[in-house]
Amino acid sequence: MRTRVGIVGAGPAGLMLSHLLHLAGIDTVVVERRSRAAIEATIRAGVLEQGTVDLMRRTGLGARLDHLGLVHRGFELRFAGAGHRIDLEALTGGRVITVYAQHEVLKDLIAARLAAGGDLRFEAEDTRIEGIEGDAPVIRFRHQGQETVLDCDFIAGCDGFHGVCRSAIPEASRTEHLRIYPFAWFGILAEAPPSSEELIYASHPRGFALVSTRSATVQRLYFQCSPHERAESFGDQRIWDELASRVSGPGFTLRTGRIFQKSVIPMRSFVCEPMRHGRLFLAGDAAHTVPPTGAKGLNLAIADVYLLARALIDYYENGRTFGLDAYSATALRRVWRTQHFSWWMTSMLHRFEEAGEFDRRRQLAELDLVTGTVAGARLLAENYAGLPLD
Ligand code: FAD
Ligand code: DHB
Repeated sequence: MRTRVGIVGAGPAGLMLSHLLHLAGIDTVVVERRSRAAIEATIRAGVLEQGTVDLMRRTGLGARLDHLGLVHRGFELRFAGAGHRIDLEALTGGRVITVYAQHEVLKDLIAARLAAGGDLRFEAEDTRIEGIEGDAPVIRFRHQGQETVLDCDFIAGCDGFHGVCRSAIPEASRTEHLRIYPFAWFGILAEAPPSSEELIYASHPRGFALVSTRSATVQRLYFQCSPHERAESFGDQRIWDELASRVSGPGFTLRTGRIFQKSVIPMRSFVCEPMRHGRLFLAGDAAHTVPPTGAKGLNLAIADVYLLARALIDYYENGRTFGLDAYSATALRRVWRTQHFSWWMTSMLHRFEEAGEFDRRRQLAELDLVTGTVAGARLLAENYAGLPLD
């Protein structure tokens, strides 16, 4: 079997890359370990930047997004008992965010690829990549009991943090930067009406909490917990009490309801450099992970493949390798900017066990800076709403 670009992983990065290349007439095969049903049911991120939304609309993926997505023109930072609105739209000259769950994006991408006759191999086993240093790389995998060899011009490693592609780069040729945070997020989905019209990021002496939403009837909430916490060991009442104590504020009532999903999300910052080795290109979580505080993981994955798709299209249409050669350095510039922003949001809003009184006062002063000055608020808003894709 042969294709031009073999893609490992049907997450946001792999599927969007396949979609963008298809629109330019370039064929791909996507090899994915999990089933379609599992992918479409996994709860992850929920905030789309303006650039991600624009790209989805521009490439024919806007219908359900425009119907179900919730446009948010600002969000709230809550600390020391008071709320402060960050007016994204006014501070950025019109950029906003859209709350639309990651698995809805994946449903849209999978439907679009299949409708266009795209080749998606779900439930592939034992995927390996070979020959990336030569000019005939291959992806080997077992599919429906059959050993398959996929010959490619290029391989895109879009297989997430735990995938196999990154480790195909010899250790001597890559550098990995890792920071593990001493806390995690406890995330829930609950059947309840929204507590707030906009997202609330709360910094409280007991720890961070986040009030987000999915629809008029389903809410997404998070709170900082121990990285060793087990989702099942937290009772529902204790979860609501913990959330209520952290997001309390004048005139605010947390709306509660049946909790139907609980998970503990680890927090790490990770970068692998470079993002290319020979004919292998890494994109998305395969190359980098951010803590979820800035809601950047999914958006950064999309930004990578937007860049990679343009480079591949330029190669196939014009024979130019400039974009492919520049891919790693260009992508890494955004990656490190986003790493900084996600680390900054995390450090500004979370409780650090070892922090003394000086650190806590400094944290409050920083929150005061980003809510009390136009320059501070704009810095936060521009980065939160996202850098333009181009
Ligand atoms: P992924 O979405 O991880 O996709 C990789 C795909 O590759 C997967 O489908 C996987 O099954 C497949 N794969 C892996 N190994 C193989 C293999 N050997 N062979 C074939 N296929 C393989 N970000 C936020 O911004 N906000 C959040 O609230 C948030 N919550 C998260 C919660 C969880 C539990 C996790 C894990 C991540 C969360 N993230 C969040 C991060 C965000 O979801 C990711 O940044 C985003 O999914 C990255 O997309 P990706 O396509 O690069 O990788
Ligand atoms: C959501 C996730 C985030 O990481 C974030 O910063 C804001 C919202 C969400 O899942 O809704």
